[in-house]
Amino acid sequence: MVKHRESRPGQKTAGGLGAKPRRDISGKPPAKPAHASRPAKPSRDAKPSRDYGERVAEPHTAAPAAAAPERPLIARTGERPVERVPVILESLGAGDFHLIDSGNGLKLEQYGPYRIVRPEAQALWPPSLAAHIWDNADAIFTGDTDEDGMGRWRFPREALGETWPLQLLGVDFLGRFTAFRHVGVFPEQIVHWAWMKEQVEAAKRPLKVLNLFGYTGVASLVAAAAGAEVTHVDASKKAIGWARENQALGRMEKLPIRWICEDAMKFILREERRGNKYDIILTDPPKFGRGPNGEVWHLFEHLPLMLDICREILSPKALGLVLTAYSIRASFYSIHELMRETMRGAGGAVESGELVIREAGLDGRTPGRVLSTSLFSRWVPK
Ligand SMILES: C[S@@+](CC[C@H](N)C(=O)[O-])C[C@H]1O[C@@H](n2cnc3c(N)ncnc32)[C@H](O)[C@@H]1O
Repeated sequence: MVKHRESRPGQKTAGGLGAKPRRDISGKPPAKPAHASRPAKPSRDAKPSRDYGERVAEPHTAAPAAAAPERPLIARTGERPVERVPVILESLGAGDFHLIDSGNGLKLEQYGPYRIVRPEAQALWPPSLAAHIWDNADAIFTGDTDEDGMGRWRFPREALGETWPLQLLGVDFLGRFTAFRHVGVFPEQIVHWAWMKEQVEAAKRPLKVLNLFGYTGVASLVAAAAGAEVTHVDASKKAIGWARENQALGRMEKLPIRWICEDAMKFILREERRGNKYDIILTDPPKFGRGPNGEVWHLFEHLPLMLDICREILSPKALGLVLTAYSIRASFYSIHELMRETMRGAGGAVESGELVIREAGLDGRTPGRVLSTSLFSRWVPK
């Protein structure tokens, strides 16, 4: 069972925006292509983005990139959906995962049988637990403390294999020690996945779920296991391979999941042209990424068009459009207001805030401090 609750502290999470001013939504063609072959602005340090199997270099002026089709934003009219802010979606862990402790720029997490130490820049406070508990972890990621930095795993107790079995929301999958500190799942997402599972199970029809930037497929497997027809899109062949491994591990091969290795923007543009619709769309884009043919994804440039297209491919009886944004410098208001503008005239509500994980101690049941993991904004029809 997911241990999470919603709270609305009535307090703003203000933040300096790293975003550029909003794009024109008048319906006029944008002055510059929304998702284009044009190289992005020069980046001072062409650092890798988060690793999901393949190293991806941030684009700079010299980087060639394949052209993706594009279209202007649609002029939206009508009222904006009602707003619910701030919404803090908190989890105290779920299934085989909980956050044990955090502090001194690190976090100590339980993933099934393993205790794992990873960098966590936001943990400015001192740890609660004794140093020997931290030192005794099964795996410690050391290296660049930057979010996207390279590093390596150290196994102080005994050498561990690359993968190990885990379970969340009744779905089996593999934890994995990857080169960029990630472990094959982002457990803070569980609050969205639990919400989605409820929607799918409560619907009296097979829902169509689209999972964009789907990574190792845990959300896709949760949706399919609940009865949805799932389309999973990710640019990384390796990540799709891991997702299929997860599907096989859980003996879920017969469930209706389309695994698509493609640039997310290209895919939804095609779906729009074909008139295909989805009842629930999850999109969890990185700040920066590349499609399999070098298509450049830049969240601050391309998110308005992505949401615009997502709205067009929502079915008339859609149940939600869920956006998560991590590792960006922005307030949740930035994606909240974009979502409300995009969903003008659609009715319903837009709720936005942060996904946070609360420390749960060694026993997984002792609430401690809260770590913020990402911003989110979701449109729901009611
Ligand atoms: C943070 S992960 C998503 C995590 C996922 N929502 C989860 O919780 O399991 C970001 C994913 O985006 C993929 N990606 C990056 N650029 C992409 C693009 N242009 N099109 C499609 N997928 C892309 C990466 O391969 C990676 O798997």
